[in-house]
Amino acid sequence: MDLQQLLDDICAGAASHYGQGRVADYIPALASVAPAQFGIAIHTLEGDLYSSGQAQKRFSIQSISKAFSLTMAIHRHGDELWQRVGKEPSGTAFNSLVQLEFEKGIPRNPFINAGALVVADSLCSRLSAPVHAMLETVRLMAGTASITIDRKVADSEYEHRYRNAAMANLMKSFGNFENEVDRVLRAYFSYCALSMNCVELARAFSFLAADGRCPQSGRQWLTKRQTQQLNALLLTSGLYDAAGDFAYRVGMPGKSGVGGGIMAVVPGRFTVCVWAPELNEYGNSVVGLWALEELSKALDLSLF
Ligand code: DON
Repeated sequence: MDLQQLLDDICAGAASHYGQGRVADYIPALASVAPAQFGIAIHTLEGDLYSSGQAQKRFSIQSISKAFSLTMAIHRHGDELWQRVGKEPSGTAFNSLVQLEFEKGIPRNPFINAGALVVADSLCSRLSAPVHAMLETVRLMAGTASITIDRKVADSEYEHRYRNAAMANLMKSFGNFENEVDRVLRAYFSYCALSMNCVELARAFSFLAADGRCPQSGRQWLTKRQTQQLNALLLTSGLYDAAGDFAYRVGMPGKSGVGGGIMAVVPGRFTVCVWAPELNEYGNSVVGLWALEELSKALDLSLF
């Protein structure tokens, strides 16, 4: 099948799915993003790039950054990390607090906000400049030195930090937080405020489709075994309490963000990133989900 034609067809079909969701507005700096936009990019292990729509337009990657921070944390802490954060789907919203008290400050998985805060805390413990380290890592992974953090978005989230601050403080009260809450929140919000486009994200995550090794630079970001484990966690928890629906409809490891992006991995073949800002009630891109389902159907990509 002609991959470029397929992406163009999906892009042409996207417009008929606009208007079914809402742009994230709990982060004021994101509320002004125009809703009717769509981009898609595929980066193959051979280094070929296919894209359509607004694939070069940067957006706030938000929770997609949790896959970057987890990669960095696994690299530094190995299996020790799993003493502080679980590997199970939560079945609750990404920003829910309820399980955290019952489960004594150990978040269910590294992709819900509480889990990502523990991951950020673990990076703050090992790095003197955790934000700089993330930026450098992501630039290397994407092969683009011009990637930046949108300070307006990061500051906007910090200003409205109360729910994430509550999680961090609760975890601190249970002894599962090593650094000052404010320092970790600043790092976490900066990670979420990375501004990237579909092409950059598809390329940056290509190591997840290639046993942990970037096919372009040859750099080994994770071992093969760690990569399998990270992909397993993305499949079971990458889309929060909609991970089951994503596995059913798309059948690949994936990670979404409230900026409207979703990246997904087809191990051994390629990584794909879609972007469309309107979200469903689970905080996942409505049109992005539709597009990935179409792609999966057309190319028979489900791992199952
Ligand atoms: O902490 C937050 O709520 C946001 N910075 C990230 C949430 C997010 O992207 C959830 N994903 N769909």
